[in-house]
Amino acid sequence: MKALVLSGGKGTRLRPLTYTIPKQLVPVANEPILGYVFGHIRDAGIKEVGVVVSPESQEDVRAYLGKGNRWGVKVRYILQPEPLGLAHAVKTARPFLGDSSFVMYLGDNLLAQGIREFMEDFLAGDADALIFLKEVDNPKAFGVAVLDKQGNIVRLVEKPKKPPSNLALVGVYFFSPRIHDAIDSISPSARGELEITDAIQGLMRSGGTVKGQVLDEWWLDTGKKDDFLAANTVVLDGYVKRSVEGKADAKSRVDGRVQLDKTARVTNSHIRGPVVIGKRCTIVDSFIGPYTTIGHGTRVVNSAIEHSVILDGCLIANIPRLEDSLIGRKARVVREETNHSKALRLLIGDANVVEV
Ligand code: G1P
Repeated sequence: MKALVLSGGKGTRLRPLTYTIPKQLVPVANEPILGYVFGHIRDAGIKEVGVVVSPESQEDVRAYLGKGNRWGVKVRYILQPEPLGLAHAVKTARPFLGDSSFVMYLGDNLLAQGIREFMEDFLAGDADALIFLKEVDNPKAFGVAVLDKQGNIVRLVEKPKKPPSNLALVGVYFFSPRIHDAIDSISPSARGELEITDAIQGLMRSGGTVKGQVLDEWWLDTGKKDDFLAANTVVLDGYVKRSVEGKADAKSRVDGRVQLDKTARVTNSHIRGPVVIGKRCTIVDSFIGPYTTIGHGTRVVNSAIEHSVILDGCLIANIPRLEDSLIGRKARVVREETNHSKALRLLIGDANVVEV
């Protein structure tokens, strides 16, 4: 069993963050999403991992994953020169995959449970594909499955205008090598991509067995801001244990499940978990409320922050209430105390959103 991790694409829905960082490397609770994906692959005991990268993502992805030593796996990089679809990525990776069965894991998907048990089921059975489904509120944004009364998959449709169900395809798929013939038999969709959804349909048409399993735990496609904040919330809820290694002075309170890095400093502030505070952060005269991640090297002064993700190297100063926000690296969100007018002075990059 091999793993194929897709880590290309342009990440247009998560702009502006993805102008400078591939979406698979945007951190959730200070760990890039790819890190969770690799953790699941390691826990399943898979040793050979192909990582499909794009010309835009390859440098950063290589810098983060390296040879895979951190997870005890061997990484092989596969360049997909253009984003021509998930099935095209599999086609590009064919020399790496050979005749092996494999799990394809989309690098921007976050799953509550690992993949080990699913892999064992797949290897013990005779299916040519095992796919996962989850009920969603916005099926138009996903591949969608139609099941019959017995729960067998009847049909799959990619991004349907009129969704036939609310069961979305999760971005984790197990395949036998029969998928390659199915991919060879499809043509590009209306959006010009070779869709894995069409290939799975083709596999069914040619007599292959496709099994579907509805996930009972959470799954997130971290493609957009609100999904991203939701991912931060569930990860803080599920994974964070109290570990206060950094120094909080006598005038500070650190309540609940808070991870405070040993190089972080808290002065005259109140931290209420679940919260993760990264390396070399300083929190002064502030309140950091539940479901907040503060990236490495960020400084928060005289401010209150809740349900937000602040990435590395930011300055947040004199902001009475910051909520539901996602702030990119090295951003400064500052209210000058000398500013007695109501004027806002902004230096805003492309595709930013400011709600005042
Ligand atoms: C892809 C698949 C889609 C699936 C989704 C899961 O869409 O094409 O079928 O539901 O991943 O994350 P994308 O997010 O690449 O548009």
